[in-house]
Amino acid sequence: MNIIEFADKDQLGKAAAAFIARTIESKTDAVLGLATGGTPIDTYKELIQLHQTEQLSFKQARTVNLDEYVGIDPNHENSYMTYMKRHLFDHIDLPSDQYFLPNGAASHLEEECLRYDQLIEDLGGIDLQLLGIGQNGHIGFNEPGTPFDSKTHVVQLDEHTRQANARYFSSIDEVPTHAITMGIASILSSKKILLLASGKSKADVIQYLERTEIHPDFPASALKLHEDVTIFIDREAGSLR
Ligand code: F6R
Repeated sequence: MNIIEFADKDQLGKAAAAFIARTIESKTDAVLGLATGGTPIDTYKELIQLHQTEQLSFKQARTVNLDEYVGIDPNHENSYMTYMKRHLFDHIDLPSDQYFLPNGAASHLEEECLRYDQLIEDLGGIDLQLLGIGQNGHIGFNEPGTPFDSKTHVVQLDEHTRQANARYFSSIDEVPTHAITMGIASILSSKKILLLASGKSKADVIQYLERTEIHPDFPASALKLHEDVTIFIDREAGSLR
């Protein structure tokens, strides 16, 4: 794991966008694995900026998101589909039939998980997977205890994760209890991984990630099994190292 620290979250966002841009420039039809949450918003803003001012094109790219809530429609204001449209897809030239998220409103969730794994395989695998990290070490929605050989699956969200995501809903009761997430094996089969962490609230988890042994109780430790992982943090997230 190569950890690089930036002065603040703006610098981190710029560097992460440049990293992603290099992937698309070197392979125009690259498959990008994308994440939601607060952390990548600056990165997506910068990608939009690069598209508008530097002609960065996503016309041939394909994207697959890590996860989606179960039980809410893709058009729901808090779905991850809506998040991706709002923060990225509606502002770049990525055709709408080239971005994919798990469908959390599918009537047969197990089948949906298999379909999603097959889709990733049919696309030729993920060239670059972007990740955030939860305060409990989760990646995607792979909560502590998730086996490292897991592929796309349905998860019950940890109470801690629901609390952290309640900021986007009008009350905690509205936060879905389940999600579909790519598994740890799906993430590890990406060719390259870029994990982002910013802010004081991530300082503990970054310190722990650096020092911990590889163990399913701390899902992000699985990244130590991958040979091409880059971690971009800002000074606050690195403050306990
Ligand atoms: C989002 C995801 C999650 C987040 C993590 C950090 O698609 O899979 O693992 O990356 O919960 O979220 P933020 O960035 O809001 O701190």
